[in-house]
Amino acid sequence: MKRTLFLFMTVFVMVVFAASCGNTEEAADEAVESEPEVEVKPVADYTLGGELYAGKSICAGCHQASGEGVTGTFPPLANSDYLNSASKEDIIRQTLYGAATPIIVNGTEYPGGVMGAAVAAIELSDQEIVEIINYMLNSWGNDLGTVSAKEIAAQRVD
Ligand code: HEC
Repeated sequence: MKRTLFLFMTVFVMVVFAASCGNTEEAADEAVESEPEVEVKPVADYTLGGELYAGKSICAGCHQASGEGVTGTFPPLANSDYLNSASKEDIIRQTLYGAATPIIVNGTEYPGGVMGAAVAAIELSDQEIVEIINYMLNSWGNDLGTVSAKEIAAQRVD
């Protein structure tokens, strides 16, 4: 009889314990759910992109450190209607190969065939292109998103 009582008590304690554990978890879940949603955005760092843009002088040499370009010769990357409306694919292709035919930026025509050879000579890796483009898309007032190495690789034709 004592043994049965002991077993009964043991099972009882275990059941109560299990039930209370479940409750605690539920309570914890509720506490998390009821907290106001705070979106923690990682701080984007375009330092390397800036260094590549300016340091190797590949882009800044023509488009200037300010991204303003030289009207009529090198188009602007700041407040550029081209950049603001182009697809990511077009931006990546332009950065990798330049344009073969003239393009119009903010109403001014720029000759094609100028940029491609200059950039090709530097032989930038996909990741370097990512850093440069993300710097360009998020500098001088631009707020145009980011690209990934996979997207760069998809546009390479060589
Ligand atoms: C030798 C000068 C030169 C260099 C170096 C150069 N560009 Fe360009 N870029 C141009 C010219 C000229 C155009 C007009 C079309 C063309 O020739 O490709 C242009 C067009 C562009 C455009 C599209 C038009 C616009 O202004 O929005 C983008 C974007 C661009 N360049 C980004 C870059 C980036 C990023 C680099 C560095 C990896 C770079 N360029 C290096 C001369 C240059």
